[in-house]
Amino acid sequence: QVSNLDMDAAEKGGYEHFMLKEIHEQPNAVKTTITPRIVNGMPDLSECGLTLEALKNYRKLFIVACGTAMHAGMVGKYVIEKLARTEVTVDIASEFRYRDPIITPEDLVIVVSQSGETADTKAALHLAHDKGAKVLSVVNVKGSSIARESDMVLYTHAGPEISVASTKAFSVQMSVMYLLAFEMAYAKGHIDENECKRLTAKLAEIPDIIEKTMECEKKCKYVSSKLITAQSLLYIGRGLDYALSMEGSLKLKEISYIHSESYAAGELKHGTISLVEDGMPVIGVATQTELLEKTVSNIVEVKSRGAFTIAVCKEGTEFSEGVIDEAIEVPAMEDVLMPMLTVIPLQLIAYYTTVLKGLNVDKPRNLAKSVTVE
Ligand code: G6P
Repeated sequence: QVSNLDMDAAEKGGYEHFMLKEIHEQPNAVKTTITPRIVNGMPDLSECGLTLEALKNYRKLFIVACGTAMHAGMVGKYVIEKLARTEVTVDIASEFRYRDPIITPEDLVIVVSQSGETADTKAALHLAHDKGAKVLSVVNVKGSSIARESDMVLYTHAGPEISVASTKAFSVQMSVMYLLAFEMAYAKGHIDENECKRLTAKLAEIPDIIEKTMECEKKCKYVSSKLITAQSLLYIGRGLDYALSMEGSLKLKEISYIHSESYAAGELKHGTISLVEDGMPVIGVATQTELLEKTVSNIVEVKSRGAFTIAVCKEGTEFSEGVIDEAIEVPAMEDVLMPMLTVIPLQLIAYYTTVLKGLNVDKPRNLAKSVTVE
């Protein structure tokens, strides 16, 4: 006879919670999502009808989504603009649908959704169609309404995500953004075939490196033990690190109920820094080489006001004495790909802080996995 408890444990694959199981499923989820889309070393998204010719001709991209999916869109914006030199606007779907955006038929609207059922995201899709633009969706749930109504669909292959806090869906959404950025950069002539293959090969290495990144788990648990009594904390970063700090902050607040805010590090001095008092935890996401010095100077500013400073950084990053209280190191990859690794400690911190507080990590109060009403 199998007890309910045994069934429960089996469903969670031996992990205590779905969220932890899903965090650890990321290497495989990313691999399953990208592998079929790499052909002869080049990204290939033609399965959905996205041709090199079409990618070359889009004037502008709009990425529209909610919550975590919107943060994957932010990563997409940084990477596509940097590599493909094409303007990308990222919108929260509930804003996009009411702001009368300037979309033309030469633009591509990309909607990102794990469930494929989010009401605001679906409304954004309808608006794009009304304006004559084609819609590409990046969706996890097969046959969902967003997938059915889009002109082109790129499915992410994360498998079912049970935990309300999204983890593996985020990683696979980002991985699709990379393939799109590389292919578009090539189509528009901003990188040659060799460079495109080089970047794609780096992306293909990511699943193994995510696995390696998991080695920071113990350290994350330790850092979490320092956060459980905090009333509020800040996440700061610049560029891609800013996008990730938004995701880290959302993850923490939604499940641990600790207030947190994400701020562009350079914007702190315009108001937020007045919140910093003795002992306030500040998580500085600092993986981008060109911005490192700038971000560190902001960490110094909060440190000198008494903050408890935690850095999420590349292996081997050196800080001046007394600036960082705790450093969580992740393997060093080239900057553009770092979000795929940086997200791991951010997810683990949210998870362990919540578990140590004794809260229901998989089902936080007031939240739903899929928001099908406005
Ligand atoms: C809800 C979930 C989030 C998710 C967001 C968008 O708020 O709790 O985890 O990021 O909806 O959902 P979608 O299914 O469109 O990605």
